Amino acid sequence: PVALRVALLGCGVVGTQVVRLLTDQADDLAARVGAPLELVGIAVRDTARERPGIDPALLTDDAAGLVARADIVVEVMGGLEPARELILAAIEAGASVVTANKALLAQHGPTLYEAADRAGVDVYFEAAVAGAVPIIRPLRESLAGDKVRRVLGIVNGTTNYILDEMASRGLSFDAALAQAQELGYAEADPTADVEGHDAAAKAAILASLAFHTRVGLDDVACEGITGVSADDMRWAAETGHVIKLLAIAEASADGVLARVHPALVPLDHPLAGVRGAFNAVFVESEAAGALMFYGQGAGGAPTASAVLGDVVSAARHRVLGGKGPVESWYADLPLAPADSA
Ligand code: NDP
Ligand code: HSE
Repeated sequence: PVALRVALLGCGVVGTQVVRLLTDQADDLAARVGAPLELVGIAVRDTARERPGIDPALLTDDAAGLVARADIVVEVMGGLEPARELILAAIEAGASVVTANKALLAQHGPTLYEAADRAGVDVYFEAAVAGAVPIIRPLRESLAGDKVRRVLGIVNGTTNYILDEMASRGLSFDAALAQAQELGYAEADPTADVEGHDAAAKAAILASLAFHTRVGLDDVACEGITGVSADDMRWAAETGHVIKLLAIAEASADGVLARVHPALVPLDHPLAGVRGAFNAVFVESEAAGALMFYGQGAGGAPTASAVLGDVVSAARHRVLGGKGPVESWYADLPLAPADSA
């Protein structure tokens, strides 16, 4: 079968891990997709910088040229421009798009989705909310026959990490933020994390999917964690609570409400136990009741896992119209004899 050409836009915290997974798992991915995935280039700003594990011959600063020769474009460069322009160009050229860029989707999602509809291609964005945690597909697909009442999410790893380090180890805000940056959780400008803007972008995406409507960034009321003090944390603990930055989307009599703010979470609520950079999204729906989706919400490898899942979906769709070779999911490893456990 003919190889699918994958273009990667960005090779930072996430992009580096996308390359690693694409390379290390090339044979398994080819079996799962039904065709090999060929990484045809990686767009970066600085092509001269040495990048361990990355073939320098793949690097280019001509992102538009790279997009023009791809079947699947993976955007992990972040920011609004040139990401928006490049994704539109990819769509118009008939490529499938995978992006982790929640800021872009919260601002320009409708333009991109409409362009994709017109071109008959798909935009995948599982990695844009809660890193490795599958939440986009469940809202879009698994719960599509139900009625969601409320979504409560810890969707920013950096702020959850900071709050957790402050509460459990008495670290200062600045020291905890520096650690979150070191670990690759924070945005290029961590203001987006600590002021709640990153969580607000994710809240807009979640609210749009959960309530089948268009919620933009400007519709989300937003307060970050910079005002949370050590005293607040002590008081919360004394009263049986923990402080979490929550993204909340709910249906009200007046319509859909979406907001982000620090909240007192009772210690016996499932969200109270979400530690470090982990994320969780708690969904309350009419027929299914309460569901919680939980896992690593930030960092290169967890996010790359979600990106690769989308790449496989996009590739399978292109090769087989969405119908994967089901038997290949079982072909990676031989079965151990039943009595060997
Ligand atoms: P980084 O800042 O680590 O990497 C960004 C990459 O994009 C760099 O390789 C950079 O090039 C390249 N880049 C940026 N602007 C341009 C441009 N104009 N032209 C060409 N290349 C460009 O970001 P992350 O990997 O952390 O994040 C990437 C995206 O993933 C963002 O949208 C982020 O919100 C999202 N995301 C990040 C998560 C995380 O935990 N880090 C989790 C979930 C989503 P160069 O290397 O030369 O500077
Ligand atoms: N900066 C984001 C966070 C990355 O800390 O959650 C994951 O979207």
